[in-house]
Order: sequence, then structure tokens, then C-alpha cells
Amino acid sequence: MSLKEQLIKDKLPTHVAIIMDGNGRWAKQKGNLRIFGHKSGVNGVRESSEACAELGIKYLTLFAFSTENWNRPKIEVNALMELLIATINSEINTLLKNNIRLNAIGRLEDLPAKANLKLAEALDKTKHNDGLTLTLALSYSSKVEIIEAIKAIGEQLKENKIQVTDINETLLENHLTTRGIPDPDLLIRTSGEQRISNFLLWQLAYAELYFTNVLWPDFNKEELYKALLDYQTRERRFGLTSEQLEKK
Ligand code: FPP
Repeated sequence: MSLKEQLIKDKLPTHVAIIMDGNGRWAKQKGNLRIFGHKSGVNGVRESSEACAELGIKYLTLFAFSTENWNRPKIEVNALMELLIATINSEINTLLKNNIRLNAIGRLEDLPAKANLKLAEALDKTKHNDGLTLTLALSYSSKVEIIEAIKAIGEQLKENKIQVTDINETLLENHLTTRGIPDPDLLIRTSGEQRISNFLLWQLAYAELYFTNVLWPDFNKEELYKALLDYQTRERRFGLTSEQLEKK
């Protein structure tokens, strides 16, 4: 039986989040420049999006560029921004064909105007698609996102629009850039690193974590199925005991 056939259809996650890591090391192993690894990483983006869309998974969130990544050599940052534009150009028809809605979170205003514009265009073109929602985290920092939410709530307090007693999880969640999107059920990180790296810190509270040594450019549908099969062996207790879960 293939890996895909082994998946239990009604135990699939609703939301998969991925930290795409290892492009640089993949390129180095091949004696190539880092940007070659990033270009080859587009393959992993395509494979994981298509696999999720085919399986009926509703949300896929990819960590494409962190606020810290701006500190990389200028030549790499520029190449990554160009790659974003080129990838949107080359993949927009696939997104439309597969009923995928593109979404973006992060400080999009930090992106070069050309990239920001191209992204806005793609968001608009795919906004009526209701299959998979593919969210790209770009110039994203979870700590910044949480601080921005706290600031917005602080303003509402100051203007007496809310009381301190109104502050709860739902209120904070409604001020995050992921509002309306359920929390990830499964977080995948490639390349053998076992860190969260300032990605969706609030939203990952109860996510199952899956780490693989596969470098991102080699990540494909089969690797995603492996992660999903592993996820399906987990018992998600959300703080309860196994016995309590059995009675539910
Ligand atoms: C991490 O690998 C990867 C990134 C910082 C960039 C992710 C970008 C892509 C997968 C390119 C295509 C994506 C889009 C949305 C156009 P790394 O450079 O940190 O690898 P290393 O740890 O081996 O150095």
C-alpha cells in the first residue's frame, strides 16, 4: 500500500505549518550557491501545496522569510525577493487551477514595492478560491505579531472601547494576523533543526511537532505523507488524560 493510501482520511490535520529549512546546506552539498538551494526550494512549496490541496487539507502555512532574514547578505535577500516575484508569476495558474487561495502574513510593507505589488495582485486573483488557503509568512516575526496585537488592544482600552476584563484568548487571537484561521495541528520543520524560530508562537500552543532530516528542496509529497502518517499516530490530549479522552 502506498503512503498516501495508508492515510486515514478523517484524521487529517486541518492546518499544517512548515518551517522550510535547509536550502543553503542542500546547495552547499552540491557545490552550488545558496540561491540555487532557494530556487530548488520552490519545488518543495509546489509539492506540499499540491499534496495538501489533493488531500483536502484546508490550511497550509509556510515560513518563507523571517524578520531576522533581512540581516542575511544583501545579495541573498535580493535574490529571495526576486524569487518570490518569479514564483508568483510561474505558479499563479497552478494556484487558480487547484482552487488555492493565497494569503500572506508578516510585515508585508517591508518587502520591496515590486514584490509587495505582485503579492497583492496574486492575493486578489485567488481571493475567491475556497480550497486550500496557502499562507506565506513573509518578513514575519511571531513576537512582533503578538506585540502589535497587544498595542491594538491597549489602544482600545485607552479609548474605553473595552475593559480589562474583556481581555481573553479570543480577543488576542482576533488581533493576530492569523485571525479566522484555526491554529496549526501539525508543525513540520525540515533539515534536522529542532526549533520554532519565532514562528506562530501563540498559534502552535497545541500543535504536534514533526522534525525530519530531509533538506527542504528534497521535501516532496511522499515526505509530507510520512509527516501526516506520523501525526496520525499521535494522541492529542490538549491537557486531558488518555482516560478522559476515551470517554469523549
Ligand atoms: C531556509 O533555508 C529557507 C529560507 C530562508 C527561504 C525559504 C524560501 C524558499 C523555500 C524559496 C521559495 C519560496 C517562495 C515562497 C518563493 P536556509 O537558507 O536557512 O538553509 P540553511 O539553514 O541550510 O542555510
